Amino acid sequence: MGEAKKLYIKTYGCQMNVYDSERMAEALGGQGYVTTDSPEDADMILLNTCHIREKAAEKVYSELGRFKGLKAEKPDLKIGVAGCVAQAEGEEIMRRQPMVDLVVGPQSYHRLPELEAKAGQGQKALDTDFPVEDKFEILKSRPKAKRGPTAFLTVQEGCDKFCAFCVVPYTRGAEVSRPVIRVLDEARDLVERGVREITLLGQNVNAYHGEGPDGADWSLARLIWELDRIDGLERIRFTTSHPNDMTDDLIAAHGECGKLMPYLHLPVQSGSDRILKRMNRSHDRDSYLRLIEKIRAARPDILISGDFIVGFPEETDQDFEDTMDLIRQVNYGQAFSFKYSTRPGTPAAERAQVDPDVASDRLARLQALITEQQRAIQDAMVGREVGVLFEKKGRMDGQMVGKSDYLHAVHVTDPRAEIGKIARVRITQSGPNSLAGEIV
Ligand code: SAH
Ligand code: SF4
Ligand code: F3S
Repeated sequence: MGEAKKLYIKTYGCQMNVYDSERMAEALGGQGYVTTDSPEDADMILLNTCHIREKAAEKVYSELGRFKGLKAEKPDLKIGVAGCVAQAEGEEIMRRQPMVDLVVGPQSYHRLPELEAKAGQGQKALDTDFPVEDKFEILKSRPKAKRGPTAFLTVQEGCDKFCAFCVVPYTRGAEVSRPVIRVLDEARDLVERGVREITLLGQNVNAYHGEGPDGADWSLARLIWELDRIDGLERIRFTTSHPNDMTDDLIAAHGECGKLMPYLHLPVQSGSDRILKRMNRSHDRDSYLRLIEKIRAARPDILISGDFIVGFPEETDQDFEDTMDLIRQVNYGQAFSFKYSTRPGTPAAERAQVDPDVASDRLARLQALITEQQRAIQDAMVGREVGVLFEKKGRMDGQMVGKSDYLHAVHVTDPRAEIGKIARVRITQSGPNSLAGEIV
């Protein structure tokens, strides 16, 4: 065999895309590809895309434009679009950007080797099926290398909730859970390769109901308890959760399972019942607040994170004030907030849109409040002792960076701080984006 071919993958969007990109690299590894960090060296460029907001989707086309010169210089260069834009727009992508050779959706990328071969023969290759076979099972037997201390593991995909603003049910398809055995096998394999912390992923991860070895459906909590028994695995996280699937056993696990970290991402989107109803969220403000109370009763120190949309169609000043009020009641340690973006084909796209300047204004106010809360919670860590899993070297000489139990970045300068090891650290300082501390 000749020199290895080089693959450049750029990933947009959520953690599930990060996970998928790793699987895609493995799938193409079987075709002799190794990954590269520079598109100039690549024999194949793959964009793993996100369709959640208009800006994210449009970025794909500007990014493709940047590769035009490369393609002209190197006619054999293959350019592919994967992920949620591929699923949503399919052939349209090749029409808008004829230099694209290959388009593959999030449920069919295990077929990348065939698609790559087809593109190699100068044909356009497109696959946006929702096939019945399990892509993860087909990808499983690839040789796997050693890896860093943290990993994502997709356990559930797709969504049946159809929030009125959201494309995910269309781009990722119906909700499916992977069987327990396959998740456990993959987790054990990751731990053997050096992983100490696993984040279980799903668009609605707490709706997980995979088939257990006993033939019964297992809940996410039961899966977590089984993962808890794997020696060498030290930390478990999961994301993203929907308030309606936050079951009692999962709440209890937050209080009782030592490896389950005290961090919960629980998006609410809005604090106004009127808007929540129009969003088709199927929970209300009160049920969310009561849920947060229950979770905090089980695990008082848990850090709560959320997602917000401002400027959803018909959102009034009062609706927005309700959201601000909910934020004050919850007190978030972290949050992601977005201006509503009209997505073609979703129910909310047809409704009366909020003035973009009004929406920008609300977003700025909401983000200021969140930043204040986030900073206060982070500052309150000073003087406390937390577990830190070291992930990489810091910028300063001898410095290491890791994540605390609460997912704060922590800098430590100490020769005992080793990548892949967890230490008890006393927090001494709180900066704009991270903490600093000393090993105790
Ligand atoms: N499954 C998760 C979220 C998936 S999308 C959940 O149910 O919460 C991630 C976030 O993007 C959402 O929580 C929402 O805040 C935001 N989002 C989704 N669609 C959007 C849209 N059309 N405009 C703006 N933000 C959007
Ligand atoms: Fe989108 Fe709603 Fe499903 Fe989350 S629950 S992925 S916001 S439709
Ligand atoms: Fe984006 Fe698809 Fe994830 S639309 S947020 S990449 S599921």
